[in-house]
Amino acid sequence: MFRKYSFLLLPFLLLVACGPGNKPGSSAKTSTVDSTLIDVHTQSNADSVEIKHLDLDILVSMEKKQISGCALWTINNKNKQKELRLDTHDLTIDSAFVDGKKVQVTMGDFVEHLGRALNIPIADNSTQVMVCYTTGKHPRALQWLDPQQTHDKKAPFLYTQSESIYARSWLPCPDGPGIRYTYAARVTVPKGLMALMSAENPQEVNDSNVYHFKMDIPVPAYLMALAVGKVTFKKIDERTGVYAEPGMIDKVRSEFEDVGKMVSTAEQLYGPYRWGRYDVLVLPPGFPIGGMENPRLTFCTPTVIAGDRSLVSLIAHELAHSWSGNLVTNATWNDFWLNEGFTDYFERRIMEAMQGKDYADMLWELGYQDLVVNVNELGGQSKDTWLKLDLIGRDPDDGLTDIPYEKGSHFLKLIEVNVGRERFDKFLNGYFSSHAFKTITTEQFLAYLDSNLLKGDTVLKNKIGINRWVYGPGTPQNCPRADDVRFKKVDHERAQYLNGTAPAQLATKEWSTHEWLHFLRKMPSSLTAEQMKSLDGAFKFTNSGNSEIADLWFIMAVRANYTPAYAAMERFLSSVGRRKFLEPLYAEMMKTKQEDMAHKLYAQYKNNYHPLAQESLDRILELVDKKH
Ligand code: BES
Ligand code: ZN
Repeated sequence: MFRKYSFLLLPFLLLVACGPGNKPGSSAKTSTVDSTLIDVHTQSNADSVEIKHLDLDILVSMEKKQISGCALWTINNKNKQKELRLDTHDLTIDSAFVDGKKVQVTMGDFVEHLGRALNIPIADNSTQVMVCYTTGKHPRALQWLDPQQTHDKKAPFLYTQSESIYARSWLPCPDGPGIRYTYAARVTVPKGLMALMSAENPQEVNDSNVYHFKMDIPVPAYLMALAVGKVTFKKIDERTGVYAEPGMIDKVRSEFEDVGKMVSTAEQLYGPYRWGRYDVLVLPPGFPIGGMENPRLTFCTPTVIAGDRSLVSLIAHELAHSWSGNLVTNATWNDFWLNEGFTDYFERRIMEAMQGKDYADMLWELGYQDLVVNVNELGGQSKDTWLKLDLIGRDPDDGLTDIPYEKGSHFLKLIEVNVGRERFDKFLNGYFSSHAFKTITTEQFLAYLDSNLLKGDTVLKNKIGINRWVYGPGTPQNCPRADDVRFKKVDHERAQYLNGTAPAQLATKEWSTHEWLHFLRKMPSSLTAEQMKSLDGAFKFTNSGNSEIADLWFIMAVRANYTPAYAAMERFLSSVGRRKFLEPLYAEMMKTKQEDMAHKLYAQYKNNYHPLAQESLDRILELVDKKH
């Protein structure tokens, strides 16, 4: 899965001229500045120049596959800086104006992963900085789809994926999670298409081809999002709804029937939902990730539309980010576990409240299995298995493993188990409200934890072993495990099968997706093609409409050389762009000496994948140096 495999991609530190201390223009930061607060993934000086608001005016050309327009920044040059520095990646700057007057800008050298700094001269009292620009040929955030690559195959589609540092490839901006601003946007699109953003959104196609957006709550650049395509809206309840291509909208609406209830369930746990509406946009199949917590409008893969609502915990996850991430934000990408670990924990609490403990326990157990496998792959002593990451000189994508998610959520679960749920929930409520719309580092969180929950109780602190978890490798011994009541039954049935019981005789009738996943995951790695055939005959895995089950099955098929599954696997690979599915599947082909098949399929379907997915697959297929 992509979280697991990304570690393969960039395992080496490339120390570039952006570490703390030699960040361009950061001479004001002396050794008295806490280095944990420094974000090494932005070259912007927005920590010195206050950025207040963005007015964005852009034209989306589907023909040219290009966004062009102007970004007008309202600033307060309170520290009397000589220039404003913004991040860019693969952007052409057409012109720039300060308080209405044209100025000459300069661009810094290209820095690996970070792009080029844009330096705009400003005066002490400057307030308006406008940059007009055009996107390049390979913007990392954007996927431009031809009609053929959409679900309905009727119109082109564009969408962004800005997390973690890709917003800079579609607008010049201060691109760090610690810099928040409000925004308004005017987006002109081709006739008949709808534009949507992480903001107040339209619900109908507009004849003027121009859409206006407003986000009055300050957000960081990684939460800026745009989608343009032939989509339609359906209401769920007064504050929730879904957007999707018309050919999918009914299925989507029915899959997400419980989303309204999910929002109120989340509110009962950790306080009011502060963003107004909560809508979900289901994207075409090339979307590279499962979901993205764009404020007010979660972006999500169509691979969660299983027909039986069995994969909706993904929506619980993205919704939970409305608290952990969007409300309280990791200060730097080294603190990524504060976004994702909290969100995984919160996701499972929502699912427990809605579906019961047995159900949530399955999610915990599958997560634990992911953690163990991932620690093993990264190497038990690897620093990449610490919760606090060290991403200097690297792409933040390197930190996108299961560690921040699973080690992070299990750490929180351990604290919960030790202090009791009631106290922990009270603490979390306080955490969200006291840090609302702020950023936080790991160190600040640990200090807050100490003063508000653990209160210097050394016995308790030793029992938890905070440092072992946060600044130490692997899965600590006291990692909590769920009571896997439902999985024990699955283990029993699997053992029966391996002892010779015919698959059709197994008691699988009530199983959910999670049980099936556990059933398959724990099969011996050396199943024969004959065994695969018998399982397939009884359970029809090759033709499963469930993307999680299908993906796992295809990986097993590649491993066992079970060729009857290959045609269905090719169909899957031809449209699905979710990295979590693609990466292990292509990796398995490479591992099992089926490179030719991998290369042939990839060459054929590569264009259906998002640029970020292509980047990682290029490395897995050894088409580029693994270090880059
Ligand atoms: N915020 C993440 C996605 C992300 C993280 C994109 C970092 C780029 C960089 C999102 O909330 C997420 O975690 N998505 C998961 C699904 C979730 C259920 C674990 C995914 O896409 O697999
Ligand atoms: Zn997440």
